[in-house]
Amino acid sequence: MNVGVVGLGTMGAGIVEVFARNGLNVVAVEVDQPALERGQANLAGSTDRAVARGKLTEADRDALLGRVRFAVGLAALREVDLVVEAVPEHLDLKRRIFAELDHICKPTAILATNTSSLSVTEVAAATRRPGQVIGLHFFNPAPVMKLVEVIRTVVTADRVVADAQALCARLGKVAVTVADRAGFVANALLFGYLNQAVAMYEAKYATREDIDAAMRLGCGLPMGPLALMDLIGLDTGYQILDTMYRRGGRDRRHAPAPLLKQMVTAGLLGRKSGKGFYTYAKPGSSAVVSDDLTPTSSQVDSGRPVSKVGVAGEGAPAADMVEALTKAGYDVARGSPAELSDVDLVVAATVDTPVVECAMGTGRPADVVGLHLVNGVAEVVHTVRTAPEAVAAARSVAAQLGRTPVVCPDRAGFLVDALLFPYLNDAVKMVDAGYATVDDIDNAMKLGCGYPAGPFEVLDEVGLDTALARQRQLYRQLREPGLAPAPLLEQMVTAGYLGRKAGRGFRSYA
Ligand SMILES: NC(=O)c1ccc[n+]([C@@H]2O[C@H](COP(=O)([O-])OP(=O)(O)OC[C@H]3O[C@@H](n4cnc5c(N)ncnc54)[C@H](O)[C@@H]3O)[C@@H](O)[C@H]2O)c1
Repeated sequence: MNVGVVGLGTMGAGIVEVFARNGLNVVAVEVDQPALERGQANLAGSTDRAVARGKLTEADRDALLGRVRFAVGLAALREVDLVVEAVPEHLDLKRRIFAELDHICKPTAILATNTSSLSVTEVAAATRRPGQVIGLHFFNPAPVMKLVEVIRTVVTADRVVADAQALCARLGKVAVTVADRAGFVANALLFGYLNQAVAMYEAKYATREDIDAAMRLGCGLPMGPLALMDLIGLDTGYQILDTMYRRGGRDRRHAPAPLLKQMVTAGLLGRKSGKGFYTYAKPGSSAVVSDDLTPTSSQVDSGRPVSKVGVAGEGAPAADMVEALTKAGYDVARGSPAELSDVDLVVAATVDTPVVECAMGTGRPADVVGLHLVNGVAEVVHTVRTAPEAVAAARSVAAQLGRTPVVCPDRAGFLVDALLFPYLNDAVKMVDAGYATVDDIDNAMKLGCGYPAGPFEVLDEVGLDTALARQRQLYRQLREPGLAPAPLLEQMVTAGYLGRKAGRGFRSYA
C-alpha cells in the first residue's frame, strides 16, 4: 500500500513517521521547497531522537527514511492509495486541497483529513467522491499517541470506514470511530479545559508554572495545559477553539481567550517558533529555558518562620489537615479566635465555602490562607484580606508537607477542581447526547492525551455526588450556562449511583 501525507508540520511529519515505521511507502508533500526542507528536518530530528533513546536502531531508521519520498506539490500523489492531509486548520484551504486531490489521485484512493475541529462533511463535499472521504485524526506526537479518531460522515462508505480501521490496526493504533461533530471526542473535552487555563493565566489568576503544576501533580496529567498549548501550537489551538465555538453551539468556554490571538499575531506559536507560554532552547525544541517570567529562588523560598499553625474549618477536611500538620512536626491549634491568638499562621481547610468566610471568623483574616491538598500539590488560597507574608509562609508549610505549593485566589474550585470538574461534566454530557460510549471516551482521553485515567474512571473514583457538588458550586459562582451540571449526573446521584464507593457509578463494581 502506498500512502501520501500533505503538510509536514507538527502533525504531518509525525504521521509520515508512523506510516514509514510500519513498512508503508510514503509520498510526503509540502507547499514549497523551504517548507519541504523544514518537514524533512522535522522527520530527521524525530527519528534521530528515537535512535538516541534506543527506541529505533540506526538500520531501522535508515530503512524508514528510505521509504519516504519528498516532493513539492500535490501532483506527486497520483499513484497513492490513501492520502492524509495535515495542512493548517482552515476550511477553505482544506477544501481547495481536497478538490485538487480529487482530480489528481486515482479514483479508488481514499482521501483523509487530520482536521481537529472542521467539518469532515464540508471537506468531503469539495470532491466528487464524498463516500471515500474520511477523518483520520491522529494525536500529538503522532508516533507516540496510540489513538486515532476515525470520523465517518453520513456519506462515508462502510468499506472505507473498515479500510481506515484496518489501517489503524496495522499502524498499531487504537481506532475510535465517531460521527462528524466539532472536536470529535478528545478535543471536545480537552479544549474547553485548555482555553480556561489560558483565560486563568491571562487574568493573572495564577502563574503559568502553578497552573501547569496543579494539573500535572494534582491530577497526574502528563503535561500542564499551557505547556500542552505550546506543544499543540497556539495558532492551531486558536483555530480549533474558534471552529469549536462556531460549530459547537457557541459555548462561551470555547471562545478563544483574547491572549491567544495576541500571542499568535506576535509570532509566539509555542515550541515550533521557540516561544509561547514558555521559552524554548530553539524553534522545535522541547527544552524549556528560563526567561523573565521564571520565578527566582528568592520569590519561591521567602516567608516568615512557622512553628505553630492554627486550623480553621469544620469536619473531615479540618481533621485531616490537623493530622497532616501534626505529622509534619507543627504545633497545631484549633478553635475560637482566642485559641488561635498565638499561632504564626492560620490555614483554613475548606472546599465547600469560600476561605474568606472562614477567615473572617478567626478575627485575624490577614494571617489566614486556605490550604487544600490534592495529591502532589497544596493549593495555597489567598483571600482579599490575606497578607503576602502569610502566602509566603503557607508555601513553606506546603513544602514541609511534601507538596508542591500552587497559589490561587479564593474562587470556587480553586485551581485543580475548577479545571477538572467542568471537563468531567462535559464528558457526562457527551454520553448523555449519545455521541460516544463511556469506554470510547475513557479510551480517547487515555490513548489520545496520555491521561492516566479516563473521565468516567475519575468520576467513579471521586464519587458522582462530590463531582455534582463541585460542579454546582462552580455554576453558582460563575453563572456560565456551559457549567450547568449534566442532567445525567444529577439523575445518577439521585438514583444512588455514586461510583465505586456505592458499587455502581458509570461502571459496576464487585
Ligand atoms: N498540532 C496538533 O497538536 C494537532 C493534533 C491533531 C490534529 N491537528 C490538525 O492537523 C492539521 C495540521 O496541524 P499542524 O499543527 O500540524 O499545523 P502546522 O502549522 O504545524 O503544519 C502545517 C503544514 O502544512 C503546510 N502546508 C500549508 N499549505 C500547504 C499546501 N497547500 N500543501 C502542502 N502543505 C501545506 C505548511 O507548510 C506546514 O508545514 C490541522 O488540521 C490540525 O487541526 C493538529
